[in-house]
Amino acid sequence: MKQQLEEIKKSVEAQLASVQSIESLEEIRIKYLGKKGELTSILKGMGSLSAEERPVIGALANEIREFLSGEIDKKKAEMAKVIQEAKLKAEVIDISMPGKKSEIGNLHPLTKVLNEFKDAVIGMGFQIAEGPEVETDYYNFEALNIPKNHPARDTQDSFYVEDNIVLRTQTSPMQIRVMENTKPPIRIISPGRVYRSDAVDATHSPIFHQIEGLVVDKGITMADLKGTLETLIRSIYGENAKCRFRPHHFPFTEPSVETDVCCFSCGGKGCSVCKGEGWIEILGGGMVHPKVLAGCGIDPEVYSGFAFGIGLERLVMGRYDINDIRLFFENDVRFLKQF
Ligand code: DAH
Repeated sequence: MKQQLEEIKKSVEAQLASVQSIESLEEIRIKYLGKKGELTSILKGMGSLSAEERPVIGALANEIREFLSGEIDKKKAEMAKVIQEAKLKAEVIDISMPGKKSEIGNLHPLTKVLNEFKDAVIGMGFQIAEGPEVETDYYNFEALNIPKNHPARDTQDSFYVEDNIVLRTQTSPMQIRVMENTKPPIRIISPGRVYRSDAVDATHSPIFHQIEGLVVDKGITMADLKGTLETLIRSIYGENAKCRFRPHHFPFTEPSVETDVCCFSCGGKGCSVCKGEGWIEILGGGMVHPKVLAGCGIDPEVYSGFAFGIGLERLVMGRYDINDIRLFFENDVRFLKQF
C-alpha cells in the first residue's frame, strides 16, 4: 500500500510537470484526490491493514494528499498568473496614440442665414407663421388676385396634386391664411419651401425657399416698407449694404416694387456675379392690394399693409458668394462644411 501511495505521488508529479491548462489540472485533482479518486479509494481499503500499519500508512497518505493538493494549488496559481499576464499584454492601451475625434456637424447655410433673418425680424416685433406646402389653388393664386388664366400663373407652374390642390409656388398664400385668422396689427414672416416646374440650372431649382413678410396696421405706408427692408438687408449684408427700389408689378400689391442690393462682389461696378448690372435683385414687395385685404375681411379704408417675398437661396448665394444653387441640395459635405 505504501508503494501504491508513492506511485500515485510520482505519477501526479510527472503529470503536473507537463499539464497545459487549468481544466486538465482540475481533472488531475479529481482523478487522484477527489471523492472517488485513486488516493481516496486506497484510504478506504485501510480496514484490511493491521493495527500497527494503519497509523503509519494513514499518516503517509495524509502527508501525500496534502503535498499533492499544495502542488496542484501552486501550479494553478502559476498558470493563472501566466494567463493574466498574457491578457494584460494583449489588452494594453497606448495612451500616447492620437484619439478618435467625433465629428460635429454644422447648420446648413440656408438654415444659418434664415436663423439670422428670424433674429433680426423678431427684434422688430415680428412673429413667425409657418404654413402648408400642399396648398389650395384658392390660397396660392385666387385670393392673391391671380385668377385662372392670369398670365402670372404661366411663370408659376407647379405640381398639381388634384385640380385645385397644388404644391405651393410661393409663400404668399400665408398672407391670406394669417389675415383671415388674425385681427390687425399683424407683423409676421413666413419662411418655407416652395415648388415650381423649373428646369434645373445654376440659378433655378424646382424646390427653393422663400421668406414672406406681412405687416398690416392703421397708417402703414411705403416708407415703412422701405425702412423695414433696408434694416433687414443690412442685418444680412452688413451695415454698409446699399439697396434700391424699382417699380414693378405683382397682382397682390399696389404699388409694387422690386428691391436690388448693390453687388457684394464688385461693389456696383459690374461683374460676372451681377451680370454687369452692379445690382442684384433679391426680393419683391409692395403695399397689400385693397382687394386682397377686403377678401380677408380687413377694411382697406381703415387698414393698410405692406408685404414682401424674399428668395432665401439668392440671399445666401449673395452672402457667401456661392454661384450655383444646386450646391444647396446636393448635400456634399465638402460644400456644407465651409459654413
Ligand atoms: N410671391 C412673389 C414671387 O414668388 C414674391 C412677392 C412679391 C411676395 C411681392 C410678396 C410681394 O409678398 O408683396 O414672385
